[in-house]
Amino acid sequence: MQRSRIIGTGTYLPARRVTNDDLVKEFGIDTSDAWIRERTGIRARRIAAPGEATSDMATAASRHALEMAGVRPEDLDLIVVGTVTPDMPFPAAAVLVQAKLGAKKAVSFDVSAACAGSLYALAVADSMIKTGQVKRALVIGAELLTRISDWKDRATCVLFGDAAGAMLIAPETRADRGILSTHLYTDGTQADILNIPGGGSARPFSPEVWEKREHLIKMNGREVYKTAVRVLETASREALQHNGYQPKDVDYVIAHQANLRILDAVMKRLGIPLEKCEINIDQVGNTSSASVPLTLDQANRGGKLKDGDLVLMMAIGGGMSWGSALMRW
Ligand code: ACO
Repeated sequence: MQRSRIIGTGTYLPARRVTNDDLVKEFGIDTSDAWIRERTGIRARRIAAPGEATSDMATAASRHALEMAGVRPEDLDLIVVGTVTPDMPFPAAAVLVQAKLGAKKAVSFDVSAACAGSLYALAVADSMIKTGQVKRALVIGAELLTRISDWKDRATCVLFGDAAGAMLIAPETRADRGILSTHLYTDGTQADILNIPGGGSARPFSPEVWEKREHLIKMNGREVYKTAVRVLETASREALQHNGYQPKDVDYVIAHQANLRILDAVMKRLGIPLEKCEINIDQVGNTSSASVPLTLDQANRGGKLKDGDLVLMMAIGGGMSWGSALMRW
């Protein structure tokens, strides 16, 4: 079966950089640089400008990926955006990206898997290339979480940043390169440990929802932490075993930047040195579904990925939804 590979990557970061100290001084949040750094590894994050929407960021990141790969928007067959912060409830952010890029023949839709969104989107694009339905696919993670963060909840609002990352996927011609496998998982019984309970069909937007701040992110941080560490290890081992590899064979790790302590714990459990894991949470915070393509683009443009490197990818988000992918770069 035809494998796929990533032929281009791109990033968009909003211009405004907000440090932990800025959160205290400018946003009046009762926190400290030391608390945030020790608990999460975050030093700064980007916040989108008023008027800037998810599809704007996604389009900008996509242009960089298309440029790197030398592919024209009109040649795209598929656009999948992993996001839980589309510009509006519908149509999908991907539809707006299609129009902005002028990618007329690209079938376009969003995938809702929170911070695992871009990995889910990658798995969808990979499958569609494998079956020959698609030749050029744009996979995007774009998230504007600062707009749905509860700025009165210091345990969550300090974590997130806005960003978009894009990956351009095409058929792989070499036998020993490309995306080797993707593994996705879901546990809907954990839907309540990380969610936005209000503003949907179950609890439509109302003065009560507004008052209880149910239209904003709610998180049980400890439960998320425990689940994340456990399942990211298992999913990573599954990816490696499926392809006949062991953790020591991994050259590079591209992981959702939920929290530096989570990454550190997962790498320790796997026995992979943290130095093999690309890190950007210190500078951009947790950018949810943008995190995986953003981190990949940073490693790619930084010249860290060598031809033939075995690259392990992993992500987890609300749902809980998580997964892994293994590729030969
Ligand atoms: N600044 C200062 N103090 C704070 C802050 C803050 N920003 N936030 C919470 N605190 C205080 C609390 O009020 C509490 O004080 P108390 O003991 O006097 O009551 C104390 O710190 C501990 O609060 P907890 O909520 O128990 O904090 P915890 O130690 O669990 O750390 C954190 C919170 C960092 C979120 C942690 O639970 C964690 O790392 N969880 C993983 C979840 C995660 O990373 N989510 C990212 C998004 S989800 C995803 O990407 C998959």
